[in-house]
Amino acid sequence: MREQDELHWWQRDAIYQIYPRSFSDSNGDGIGDLRGIVDRLDYLAGADSSLGVGAIWISPFYPSPMADFGYDVVDYTDVDPIFGTLDDFDLLVREAHARGLRVIVDWVPNHSSDEHPWFRESRSSRHNPRRDWYVWRDPARGGGPPNNWRSAFEAVGPAWTFDGATGQYYLNSFTPQQPDLNWENPDVEAAMHEVLRFWLRRGVDGFRIDVVHKLAKDPELRDNQPGLRHDEDWQPTIHDRLRGIRRVVDEFEDRMLVGEVYLRDLRRVVEYINTGDQLDLAHNFVFLFLPWDAQAMRASVEDFEQLAEAAAWPAWFLANHDHPRVASRFADGTPGSGERRARLAAMLICTLRGTPFIYQGEELGLPDAEVPPEAVVDVDGRDPERAPIPWERPSDAGPGAGFSTGAPWLPLPTGAERLAVGAQLGDPGSTLQLVRRILDLRRSEPALQGGSQRRVDSATQVFCFTRESEDGHFVVALNFAGERVRLDPRGAVVRRARVELSTYLTRAPGEEVELGALVIEADEGLILRAM
Ligand code: GLC
Ligand code: CA
Repeated sequence: MREQDELHWWQRDAIYQIYPRSFSDSNGDGIGDLRGIVDRLDYLAGADSSLGVGAIWISPFYPSPMADFGYDVVDYTDVDPIFGTLDDFDLLVREAHARGLRVIVDWVPNHSSDEHPWFRESRSSRHNPRRDWYVWRDPARGGGPPNNWRSAFEAVGPAWTFDGATGQYYLNSFTPQQPDLNWENPDVEAAMHEVLRFWLRRGVDGFRIDVVHKLAKDPELRDNQPGLRHDEDWQPTIHDRLRGIRRVVDEFEDRMLVGEVYLRDLRRVVEYINTGDQLDLAHNFVFLFLPWDAQAMRASVEDFEQLAEAAAWPAWFLANHDHPRVASRFADGTPGSGERRARLAAMLICTLRGTPFIYQGEELGLPDAEVPPEAVVDVDGRDPERAPIPWERPSDAGPGAGFSTGAPWLPLPTGAERLAVGAQLGDPGSTLQLVRRILDLRRSEPALQGGSQRRVDSATQVFCFTRESEDGHFVVALNFAGERVRLDPRGAVVRRARVELSTYLTRAPGEEVELGALVIEADEGLILRAM
């Protein structure tokens, strides 16, 4: 186990995901932008009332026709005018660094936009030098797509689009506007490595790699079989490509790589971080997809610990811009349960050994927005979790809720009036204040950062564990049930503790509890300091 001062920056603090379209709009066009992020940096770090995160990961802001809202890139080394300019980006990096905040950008290497000059050339003729930069194939014998691969988006169907001009299909693992780059071609790999260097030279601290498991596919393009995918995670090629990416990033000091390893098998996921020369962190989708169940979560955390090598470090998240928000997904129907569970989820991911990723708005306990059919813009039903952040109460700031002086590009989340940042900052019992205090505690307690983690057997509805180092000893007890439960700890565990934080924020700070007699409220989470 690493001692405190040996931890990397990306292990110590939480990382906050910004979806730039929906974070903050500086010019009133209804769409968030880079200047908007700069305006809000004090909210995140460096000021007294800041949330206190250590880094931001910004979803794509590159020039894009926005068929997939920026995950379809036409120029990897520029900023879309809707988001601002490269100067704005440089300003953002300077201002973030001045606050001790690191900047991670999203790198989208699996596919470009179909309007990218590379693809325009590629599709222009079968003999164009860039033809082989994308994945082109003749129709199957008898016609139709070359194989049975499917787009990740249900609504798209087959992962192949026929291009009449040259009589072949091209591969698109997402929308037809996102043709897959051909990573079998070393020139493609080299060009994408140059993109990394461009942003590294501009001072970024790391990359989130979009659909990283897709960077190696069966070069023979054989059909997927039940239980055997040929369109992703191809062995051992994927790991060679990751090592190539790592080498580029290691030309610079202290930079990090986190991958969207969208695989539902933990054994495969840990292979991306186990060897020390690939990714630093992998987003764990096995965990994201678990039901709201203490035993399931505990088992999954333990699976990870068992599979991971000593040097591998977990990353925990339960929400991003592709999945319904915690408060909507896990609400059990009783009033307030969504928010209570968002609080519990925040306490969970920020106290587990590993790096917490907080998706913008989760610190507010936001639910999804209700998006009427005429306002739907995403092909894959992801608009509700991408609703703009309500910075002020709409009754004070108007319908843009401080996000924009214009008309926001998507409806605001349900409950914006009560859940707005302005409303929560002034309320010591709010979800925002709770998350701030959890992050504060994490920052000041080495045990909650690099400390060891041990399970505590207890009531089945409770996920209970300890975090311990030379500097401190904590017991975290999280009640996943919508009813009060006696902790009922078994085995070797401290007997008395003081309450550091309750997700309810109603227990007296410093209150002493006897663990054997402790009763936890419905959906309550507790961080206790062992005595
Ligand atoms: C990732 C992104 C998602 C995007 C897809 C294609 O899954 O998170 O938003 O649609 O990749 O780039
Ligand atoms: Ca704007």
